[in-house]
Formats: sequence, structure tokens, C-alpha cells
Amino acid sequence: MVRITLVLGDITAEKADAIVNAANSSLLGGGGVDGAIHRRGGPEILAACEDLRRSHYGKGLATGRAVATTAGRLAAGHVIHTVGPVWSREEDRSALLASCYSESLRIADELGARTVAFPAISTGIYGWPMDDGARIAVETVRGARTEVREVRFVLFDAPAYEAFEAALTAGP
Ligand code: AR6
Repeated sequence: MVRITLVLGDITAEKADAIVNAANSSLLGGGGVDGAIHRRGGPEILAACEDLRRSHYGKGLATGRAVATTAGRLAAGHVIHTVGPVWSREEDRSALLASCYSESLRIADELGARTVAFPAISTGIYGWPMDDGARIAVETVRGARTEVREVRFVLFDAPAYEAFEAALTAGP
């Protein structure tokens, strides 16, 4: 079973086998976690993303999918880029958010990663309510069949940390 731990901090500082980027389908950078990863990781990550766009994802990476690149100058071994759904009041996109976590773990297994750090995907610029985002993240990781031993949720502020703590204690 996967051990889940919570960390308050900046995911770009994590020394995990892989860290997950809350990217967009262009894979070419943005704000939030994505901006921080590219800034701190250096140009090697963007170059790898551009290669992926050319070789496999001409139209971009679909929402809910994940793909790995080098971590450049970061302490982590790899960056797994995933595209979260934009929050919608009209449409239930929970399955797509869950898919970001399960697909990232599938890619982590392909890489042989044993420790993986996730941000709270979609809960920033994409507007997903933190409590619900935390619940989906925890439930999906708990239910995943994976060789990953530890999943670390790296939360940027106290409210996010508390939402994940609540989601962890709510479950079985
Ligand atoms: N470390 C950990 N968590 C962080 C960090 C950090 N360095 N920076 C922000 N967060 P977001 P999204 C938190 O906006 O909602 C980009 O432009 C933040 O407080 O990074 O999936 C992409 O290119 C929030 O709780 O990702 C996409 O266009 C969570 O991480 C779009 O934003 C996710 O916030 C993706 O939006």
C-alpha cells in the first residue's frame, strides 16, 4: 500500500524520484507550479517538452494524461507533467482530475520511481475547490495499484495542508 505524507512547502525543492507538474496541454509552461518548475529546473525541461510536442503530442497533451521528462537542475529525478481539468460548475470533471493522479502514478511505475511528490492539481489557476480537490487526490492515490511506496502531497499554504489532512482522516 502507498504511504501518504503531507508537506507544507514548494514542490520544486522536493528530493523525490519524481515530482508532478500541474501543466497545461501545451506543455510549454505557464504560471503557478508550472512556472516555478521551469524557472528553477532550467531550460532543459522546456527543451524536453518541445521535443515531446514535436514527436508525440502535436495537438498537445490531453486533460487527465501524464508524461515524463528530465527534471533539469531540480533535485528530483524526473518531472511528470499532467494536465488537470479547469473547474466547472455545470459539468462534473472529477474523473479527469482523478485520472491526473492515476496516470501520473502509472508513468512513475514506468520510470521505476518509488517516491512521488504531487501538488494539489487544478486547485490554483484552474479554480478547483481545495476540499474537493484534496478528497479526489487522496481517494485516487489510496485506490491506485502501483509500485510507488510513498506519495508526498506538497501543499503551498496552511489551508491547503489542512484540507489534505481532513481528507486523509476522513477516509478508511
Ligand atoms: N509548490 C507547491 N504548490 C504550489 C506551488 C509550488 N511552487 N505554486 C503553486 N502551488 P496551479 P492548476 C499550488 O495554479 O490549478 C499554470 O499556468 C497552488 O497554490 O499551479 O492545475 C499551468 O500552465 C495550488 O493549490 O495549477 C496551467 O495553465 C496548486 O499548487 C494552469 O496553471 C495548483 O495550482 C494549471 O492550473
